[in-house]
Amino acid sequence: MTDQALEMHIPRKGLAMVLTAVERRLPPPAAGEVRVAIEAVGVAYADIMMRQGVYAGHKPPITPGYDLVGRVEAIGPGVKDLAIGQRVAGITVFGSYATRRNVAAQWLVPAPEGVDAGRLVAAVLNGVTAWQMLHRIANPAPGEWVLVHGAGGGVGGLLLDMARIAGVRAIGTASGGKADAVAQRGGEPIDYAREDVVARAMALSGGGVAAAFDHLGGKHFKTVSMPALRPGGVGVFYGAYDVSRGGKVNPLAVADLLLNARFSSLGLFAKGQGVVAYSSEPWRDGRPSAYQNDLATVLKLVADGVVTPEVGATYPLRAAAEAHRALEARAVTGKIVLLND
Ligand SMILES: NC(=O)c1ccc[n+]([C@@H]2O[C@H](COP(=O)([O-])OP(=O)(O)OC[C@H]3O[C@@H](n4cnc5c(N)ncnc54)[C@H](OP(=O)(O)O)[C@@H]3O)[C@@H](O)[C@H]2O)c1
Repeated sequence: MTDQALEMHIPRKGLAMVLTAVERRLPPPAAGEVRVAIEAVGVAYADIMMRQGVYAGHKPPITPGYDLVGRVEAIGPGVKDLAIGQRVAGITVFGSYATRRNVAAQWLVPAPEGVDAGRLVAAVLNGVTAWQMLHRIANPAPGEWVLVHGAGGGVGGLLLDMARIAGVRAIGTASGGKADAVAQRGGEPIDYAREDVVARAMALSGGGVAAAFDHLGGKHFKTVSMPALRPGGVGVFYGAYDVSRGGKVNPLAVADLLLNARFSSLGLFAKGQGVVAYSSEPWRDGRPSAYQNDLATVLKLVADGVVTPEVGATYPLRAAAEAHRALEARAVTGKIVLLND
């Protein structure tokens, strides 16, 4: 076993070209850590926001890498539940654009064998996000309706799968070309560019949805997601999708998020409605057993073929800059994944 690692590092904020290959010698795993030889790492919008210096709490210099699938190579003191050679998966938030790394064991769960590593990693961050928003925050009853924005995308597609298997009815907004993909996952498609989303959601659900999952935030959350709720419903805000569009920070999208961040608690009280902001990192760290249970559940659903994450493109680790450009250009449908040999 070697302790040499190659990382794709972001030394300073900038365009994708700043991603730089760096060789490092890893220390032995510390107490509570394991060394993981990484098979696959997801490329996330958060990585781009980190590179651009607009991701709260994680700014350059940084090695990105929000989630991983790999194999345990070495075990630090005090780690009891993982074995050398075991396949694992987890949310790391940063640091996994690498051939190997040391990771806190509590962020990892055993991962199924016999499933393509890219497909598995496509369900780690996105799958935990979808599962926790649906089941731990919204918790709709079978037969109730939810509104899933970006239903042709990574998190949105998994939300449709998870709603379907829970007997929850889903409306999915997407551009027109993705309507078939939404319907195949059991969603009722709405073309957000051509249709009145609130009116259609109200009509389909018979008076409003139990939950709306919104990856855009700002005015969209206020004027589309919240008005589509029934009394007692919850709006879940989980992304700033337009902020990193096109390779540069979009100042209009930032201003929109800031201007539309306030809600009247009395207005919400009158309708018994909720506004929740979901973020996977505080959930992982604040409720670790929920995180571990939910990630294990999601991985099993993928292994059983019930949940079907889509991999849009794979790149070798060293081509991380190319992968960032593809994500920024919104050029790929499906998760972009970096693979090690
Ligand atoms: N909070 C968390 O822990 C967490 C975890 C994972 C991801 N996220 C965030 O969630 C967001 C989505 O991630 P993802 O991986 O699912 O992205 P993705 O695969 O690119 O999917 C996003 C989808 O949104 C659609 N879309 C764009 N504008 C829209 C609009 N106005 N209305 C409805 N749909 C629209 C896009 O395609 P079409 O326009 O062609 O339909 C695309 O299919 C990102 O901002 C990401 O950072 C947050």
